Amino acid sequence: MSSDRSEYPVTVQQHILREQKRFPGASGEFSWLLSGITLAAKMIEAKVRRAGLNNILGAQGDINVQGEVQQKLDVYANRVMSDSLGVRDSIAVIASEENEQPTVLRRQSPQARYIVVFDPLDGSSNIDVNVSVGTTFSIIKRPQGVYCDNDILRPGYEQVAAGYVLYGSSTMLVYTAGNGVHGFTLDPGIGAFVLSHEDIRMPTQGKYYSVNESHYADMPPEFRKYIDGLRSGQYGRKYVSRYIGSMVADFHRTLLTGGVFIYPPTKSHPSGKLRLMYEANPVAFLAEQAGGKATNGQERVLNLMPDGIHDRTPLIVGGLTEMTEFEKCRRDALRQDSSELNRAPI
Ligand code: AHG
Ligand code: MN
Ligand code: MN
Repeated sequence: MSSDRSEYPVTVQQHILREQKRFPGASGEFSWLLSGITLAAKMIEAKVRRAGLNNILGAQGDINVQGEVQQKLDVYANRVMSDSLGVRDSIAVIASEENEQPTVLRRQSPQARYIVVFDPLDGSSNIDVNVSVGTTFSIIKRPQGVYCDNDILRPGYEQVAAGYVLYGSSTMLVYTAGNGVHGFTLDPGIGAFVLSHEDIRMPTQGKYYSVNESHYADMPPEFRKYIDGLRSGQYGRKYVSRYIGSMVADFHRTLLTGGVFIYPPTKSHPSGKLRLMYEANPVAFLAEQAGGKATNGQERVLNLMPDGIHDRTPLIVGGLTEMTEFEKCRRDALRQDSSELNRAPI
């Protein structure tokens, strides 16, 4: 037998177990919980990879050749996430973008210490055109005692772990448990997520900005001014535009190559489109852990207190240079606003 261990991949399970040792008193519960997510991710990825074939083999609602009823992928992803997390004794409550209400699994079990909120399939409209989609998740601890319905409404800084799965040209899982950001690529040959991107750091300045520019005219002035500055080279370089329309894919590029991703407030949608608890919060936690920042245009995303599980928030997330420049634009806009107010007749 060879003594060279370098050819042995570090799987996500090994990595989590290693991380867990840093927490005194941590049991294997947490790695068992996360293995629910990796199992679901592998099942969703298998379906995503067959999405085109399924369309050929039968329309939505039809019986396919295996005798199964065809399902929309986001419905399937939701069921798979709910089922694989539902059997984990450490989870008290799950909440999904696809369900109006959270599901309380274990109201008073003392072992059930965690709450998991997720978007089972992010960017689902991209499925039909063979473009990358993802799954996002956010994990918080619940207070001890009997679970009360509002216990789930906690700010993002209380997340103990968060991340996403990206079903792209390869399938990747990226997570943080508060000790850096780590990326794992699914090796289809062995069916395991193996460590491919250890301790990801977001470059302090990137070259891409990412925003749906069709909303330009409806954005607040500081966003328009900022985008003008990115395009015209005011921040040390002329930025190039990239927009996929799947937040996970757009954020993944921003995490690895730097730059900025924006989902702005608009006149018709003053809180933007993205959901605070299972889209913005995981992304904000990852960005901060990788050396970047995330705000709603005014304050740190992780400080926002949700009123409901499906609350929306504007999001601007990126490297330090891009976020500092945005903050300058915001201050200028505020100054301009107040000087206009001062000039206004009483
Ligand atoms: P979902 O598919 O979970 O509803 O999420 C959709 C999202 C998000 O992934 C993306 O950033 C955004 O919608 C794109 O919205 P626009 O089409 O308005 O740009
Ligand atoms: Mn989504
Ligand atoms: Mn979704």
